[in-house]
Amino acid sequence: MIIYIRGGGSVPGGRYRRCSSDRLYSPSPPRARVASFADIPQQPATMPIEDSGSKPDFSDDEKKAIKDSWSGVYSEYESTSSEILIKFFVDNPSAQDFFPKFKDLDSEEKLKSSTAVRWHAERIINAVNDAIWLLDEPEKNAKKLKELSEKHAVQLNVDAKFFKVLAEVILDKVAEKNDGSFSDSARSAWEKLLTYICISLKVAY
Ligand code: HEM
Repeated sequence: MIIYIRGGGSVPGGRYRRCSSDRLYSPSPPRARVASFADIPQQPATMPIEDSGSKPDFSDDEKKAIKDSWSGVYSEYESTSSEILIKFFVDNPSAQDFFPKFKDLDSEEKLKSSTAVRWHAERIINAVNDAIWLLDEPEKNAKKLKELSEKHAVQLNVDAKFFKVLAEVILDKVAEKNDGSFSDSARSAWEKLLTYICISLKVAY
């Protein structure tokens, strides 16, 4: 029997991986009954980060989960923001081309020692922080993110496909900083938040 369990690569509709039930339940005799899907504790499915469609709404629990897991990242914003931006550039060198002022920073060491990179990283993390704290004021949030979208689309000509890529790096950092305490529901709330930010940053495109 083939079933789907959480934790593998993404497939449409959720984060599941295909797995033979034989590998989950090794047949140790005597075997009274075969375990069925109904025996597996069900957890809420998580959604991957999207950058199109309608903007998600947030429950109070989701907002709390986001704020709680953000505090450990933002309290060390100087280091965490640089780590995020540098990982983004190292994994996606072509994204760095949108930043003429970073054009000579052609190694991880140079990126790490650049004050300009650190400063820009802080601007990004502060924009994410603003989006989190404005979740209760959706109109204000939408306005701020729309202005940012216009800047990226019109003035900076940034390729919008990179928003989602950067969002994934942010999510990884949030998960890393929360280590064992990053629950599935917190991850799911974060995926929603980053979806909200990515869709909002694309409105002017
Ligand atoms: C989560 C996604 C992102 C956020 C929250 C964000 C936030 C910001 C903010 C707050 C600024 C400063 C705007 C201002 O000066 O008024 C900025 C500038 C900029 N962003 Fe983004 N950004 C994001 C993604 C990206 C991506 C993916 C790229 C390129 C691949 C990019 C390229 C730039 C560039 C080139 C600038 C101008 C830098 C300069 O001052 O010379 N951004 N961004």
